[in-house]
Amino acid sequence: MAREPTTDDSIASAPTADRHRQSLADIRETYAENASTMARLGWLDRLITGRYRRSAFRTAEGRVLDVACGTATNYRALPDGTEYVGIDLSPEMLDAAADRHPELERGETLFEMDAQSLAFPDDSFETVVSSLSTCTFPDPLAALAEMSRVCAPDGQVLLLEHGRSDVGAIARFQDWRADAHFEKHNCRWNQEPLDLVSGSELAVREYATWAFGILTGIRAEPGE
Ligand SMILES: C[S@@+](CC[C@H](N)C(=O)[O-])C[C@H]1O[C@@H](n2cnc3c(N)ncnc32)[C@H](O)[C@@H]1O
Repeated sequence: MAREPTTDDSIASAPTADRHRQSLADIRETYAENASTMARLGWLDRLITGRYRRSAFRTAEGRVLDVACGTATNYRALPDGTEYVGIDLSPEMLDAAADRHPELERGETLFEMDAQSLAFPDDSFETVVSSLSTCTFPDPLAALAEMSRVCAPDGQVLLLEHGRSDVGAIARFQDWRADAHFEKHNCRWNQEPLDLVSGSELAVREYATWAFGILTGIRAEPGE
C-alpha cells in the first residue's frame, strides 16, 4: 500500500533553499548542545575572526543591538562608548554570554527573542549588528526586515556573515557538503550573503570580503 507523503518527504525533495530551513525548536536544540563549546572558542576569535568583527563594526555608535548575539563575542569588538544590547533565541547561549561578561545581565541587556520578530519598537537603536547568523535563521529576509525596522532612519546595520567562497575549489567543496553541513549544524554555509542582503529591505552601502571570500562585511542602512 502506498504510504502517505510525510513532511520529511516534502522537505527532502524541495529546492535547496527550502530544504535548508529549520524550525526554531531545532535551532534551540542545536545551540543548547553547542553553547559550552562555543563559549570556549575565545581563542579562535582572538586568532582569526576578531579582526574581521572589529573591521565590520568599527563605525558602530550609540545604542547597539546585537541580533543573534550567541555568547556575546561582538561585545568586545565594538568601539568604546557604545551601549550594548544582545538578543538570542537560545537561553543556553545567553547564559554563556552572561557568564563570559558579568556586566551583561539577562533581562537587562541580554534578552531571549526571535530575530524574525523583535520585541522592540521601531527606530530603537542607532546601530544594529549581527554576525554569522543569517545562515541559520529560518527566514533570513524576515530577520533583516526586523533589523531595518528597529534601526533609526539615520542609523546603520552592520553585518559580518560567512558564505560561499570565491575560490572555486573551496566553493565546490562547500556545495558538495552543503546538505551534510546543514544536517549537522543547521547552517547554510554556501549562502551568498551579499545577494541575500541586497534582496532584503536594507540598502547596502559598502561591503568587503575576507578569508578567500568566505567572510563578508556589509554596511547597510534601513530601507525607506
Ligand atoms: C553561529 S552562532 C553566532 C553567534 C554570534 N553572533 C557570533 O558571531 O559568535 C548563531 C546564533 O544564532 C542564534 N539564532 C539562530 N536563529 C535565531 C533566531 N531566529 N533568533 C535569534 N537568534 C537565533 C543561535 O542561537 C546562535 O546563538
